[in-house]
Amino acid sequence: MDIAENSLRDFEKHWNNAYLKTNVENLGWYEENPQPSIELIVECNLPKDAILFNAGAGATTLIDNLLEQGYTNIIVNDISSVALGELRDKIVIPKSANVTYIVDDLTNPTELNKLNNIDLWHDRAVLHFFTEFEQQTAYFNLIRNAVKTEGYVILAEFNLEGAKKCCGLNVVNYDENMLQKGLGKAFKLKKSFNYTYTQPSGNTREYVYTLFQKMA
Ligand SMILES: C[S@@+](CC[C@H](N)C(=O)[O-])C[C@H]1O[C@@H](n2cnc3c(N)ncnc32)[C@H](O)[C@@H]1O
Repeated sequence: MDIAENSLRDFEKHWNNAYLKTNVENLGWYEENPQPSIELIVECNLPKDAILFNAGAGATTLIDNLLEQGYTNIIVNDISSVALGELRDKIVIPKSANVTYIVDDLTNPTELNKLNNIDLWHDRAVLHFFTEFEQQTAYFNLIRNAVKTEGYVILAEFNLEGAKKCCGLNVVNYDENMLQKGLGKAFKLKKSFNYTYTQPSGNTREYVYTLFQKMA
């Protein structure tokens, strides 16, 4: 087994353990109400059957919210099959809607490489874990290929004043310029704001939320 394969297994194990040992509602990134994400998604004014992709979704409450709002075409991904199992157990999918689950590594994708028609890519608290340049490059390439022209990308990561670690892992802190550089000139920044998230423990975490659109 080479080093890349080894570290992939380590990350997969790390995240599976995180979801196995703590109730979803007590995880440091649990949001009862994913308000900033919802606001940005609504602002995109996409049709309800648009394809919404949630990268590193974990067991997020965003999926319940999107289904409640009538979105019918949602793809969720995570490296952790445990996380997606928990998500699958808790969401109620209306008959008219379709939720697809893809367990894959965003930095070394196999299944995700096949995506090419995404209307909206959403990432909250995922990219900042990709500390190696190669991981970041692979991830931004994946987004560039998967998102449609005129499609949207929401990236919400720890900002420059934010935490330096999460879930025992080092993170990279971002501002809007760094995210713009990663996505490249084909993506236009539509909106950006800092947001203070309060964890279930009462501690706070500083995020930067960004909305980009892929230009023709
Ligand atoms: C801090 S959690 C955020 C979860 C979710 N986005 C939210 O806001 O509640 C980070 C998530 O990214 C997932 N993840 C980490 N590295 C990943 C990778 N290389 N590919 C796919 N998912 C990954 C983890 O399993 C975890 O669910």
